[in-house]
Amino acid sequence: MLTGKHILLIIGGGIAAFKSLDLIRRLRERGASVTPVLTRAGEEFVTPLSVSALAGQKVYRDLFDLTDEAEMGHIQLSRVADLVVVAPATADLIAKMAGGLANDLASTVLLATDTPVLVAPAMNVRMWQHPATQRNLTTLSQDDVSVVGPNDGDMACGEFGPGRMAEPLEIVAAIEARVADGPLSGKRLIVTSGPTHEPIDPVRYIANRSSGAQGTAIARALAAQGAEVVFVTGPADVPPPGGVEVIRVQTAREMQAAVEAALPADAAVFAAAVADWRVEGASSRKLKKSKDGLPRLEFAENPDILRQVAQMKKGRPGLVIGFAAETDDVVENATAKRARKGCDWIVANDVSEASGVMGGAENTVVIIDDSGTESWPTLSKSDVARRLAERIAAALG
Ligand code: CTP
Repeated sequence: MLTGKHILLIIGGGIAAFKSLDLIRRLRERGASVTPVLTRAGEEFVTPLSVSALAGQKVYRDLFDLTDEAEMGHIQLSRVADLVVVAPATADLIAKMAGGLANDLASTVLLATDTPVLVAPAMNVRMWQHPATQRNLTTLSQDDVSVVGPNDGDMACGEFGPGRMAEPLEIVAAIEARVADGPLSGKRLIVTSGPTHEPIDPVRYIANRSSGAQGTAIARALAAQGAEVVFVTGPADVPPPGGVEVIRVQTAREMQAAVEAALPADAAVFAAAVADWRVEGASSRKLKKSKDGLPRLEFAENPDILRQVAQMKKGRPGLVIGFAAETDDVVENATAKRARKGCDWIVANDVSEASGVMGGAENTVVIIDDSGTESWPTLSKSDVARRLAERIAAALG
């Protein structure tokens, strides 16, 4: 919930501005108040009247006059909020923020603010991928600006790829993660997610079918409960949630190093599908077909990150949660896995092909802890994540 929270929403000029109207509605439903700022370009896409009607407040516009300044000067406007949200954040606005320009109301407010800022970029694929935009985003992340999205998809300009603004509910989740007080406020959690890629040579790798959807949903749900989340992710199909610290890795050993660096933590959730083996002595050159027969790959065992953290003598997180992806005898195997690894809880699920879990939207899990097993009905992955976050919050109490 966002009861009592105050959001300053800057609406930039892009076709995605229409989604910001829904965003205002969703924020107000959750108890937040929204002060809107509409850029001159934003006015080309949504009208000041619809913005202020939905926000239930005056809309501040680029063409603001002395009355605005008398009522609330732009410096004060930038300070009243718990969070400044820029949605859609156009390439132009992002560039202005990165460069510290202040030549209109939105950029002046952004330069003058001392409250946290979240941006939801929306632009053409090429603009998003342009080195200048990517450079600007690196600058924003150094300035502690959070970013949610963009998502992949068909774009209004007819192209396909990253650039679509995150959906209103994704932006709400990122906002909650940044400002909501929840039962996990003040707690630091590590979440691993996604598959790992273990190189064979510079162009080939061993991977698995994990999409990262469940781990991503868990990180989002924990952040929505107020936790500070370090999200260590392999190359997943789904974008990481907003409002969490994202550390991208490729291999199991990189994931292990990232987890070690992220400790200490109050709890750690190991949702990643880590490859058990890597190719020993992966080739630094591309393997070529040869008359001498097929290449022979030697395997080496990867570090078991869950087991290592669960069995730490010093600095072990108070709650260590593992996942067990099984295709047979789910509860028996998962119970044995919990004992073998030394974790507090195991979230067991059936990943046999018939279950449709891998890559699907739903999950049926059994939680195994000291007190026994708890079977949950089939739920969406985000509901599984929410229930798990609530259970974690209760345990960390
Ligand atoms: N895990 C990990 N590091 C690894 C392997 C697994 O942190 N190198 C974690 C996973 O994130 C998950 C749990 O351990 O939380 C279960 O992983 P799994 O691969 O199913 O366990 P295994 O010991 O490999 O068991 P099995 O071979 O029976 O599948």
